[in-house]
Amino acid sequence: MIIIKLGGSVISDKGKPYSFDRETVEEIADEIARFYPDEDFIIVHGGGSYGHPLAREYGIREGIEPNPELKRIGFSRVHQAMLELNDKIMDILLEKRLPAFSVSTSSVFITQDGSVAYGDVEVIKRLISLRFIPVLFGDVAVDLEKGIDILSGDQIITYLAKMLRPSKVVFLMDVDGIYDGKPDEGSLLWEIKVEEIEGLISKLSGSAGIDVTGGIANKLREAREIAQFSEVWFVNGRIPGRLGGAVLGEGTGTRIPKTS
Ligand code: IPE
Repeated sequence: MIIIKLGGSVISDKGKPYSFDRETVEEIADEIARFYPDEDFIIVHGGGSYGHPLAREYGIREGIEPNPELKRIGFSRVHQAMLELNDKIMDILLEKRLPAFSVSTSSVFITQDGSVAYGDVEVIKRLISLRFIPVLFGDVAVDLEKGIDILSGDQIITYLAKMLRPSKVVFLMDVDGIYDGKPDEGSLLWEIKVEEIEGLISKLSGSAGIDVTGGIANKLREAREIAQFSEVWFVNGRIPGRLGGAVLGEGTGTRIPKTS
């Protein structure tokens, strides 16, 4: 089983509200179709310019207070925006005859401290054994302390990796992988050992941009967790062939080996 994260910056232009890169998603779907049904997949997509600006506008990460009336409307609006994005992705996957099935994150996960406190993976497991491709997404979530929060696709993947032990997790990004500096200045890191991640995070600062869920530092922290259960890859989702390379284990990108 391989879990693929379609990063929000790959499927949309984060600077343009409600932008969707149909061509890129079609190419990614074609690539997945090269390996399905020999390989099982779970797809998790991010919020991009559908989720982040609205989540920020309504202050969802700050919880249900101080204005619960407004927050409830915001909670639902962010979710609806994510459903809209999800619908576009689902259409493409189904057009390509991939048996994708959408699973609404906010209906199966409850959060605490920004990660999954409770999750129901039974349906996901059974969908996979029935040869479906479950599709989840970064979403709003009911939170044990704050009432409401945002659950990022990256955090969902960490939880799924722990529960389902995929052979690989592939993060699709809009750059070639993880760099030891800014992508246009630093050099691409082909392999990162888990022990090197903390040092790297302190070196890479300020790449979060408009993200309400923490950008590259958050991704690396999640990758450190995920590496306990699966090999992790970061590859460019905008360049055809890179996802396939990671699936085959010989691609251009950054690889983080499984720790045990
Ligand atoms: C965020 O999900 C979801 C919302 C803001 C509702 P992610 O954190 O996984 O999204 P990207 O990949 O950074 O866009």
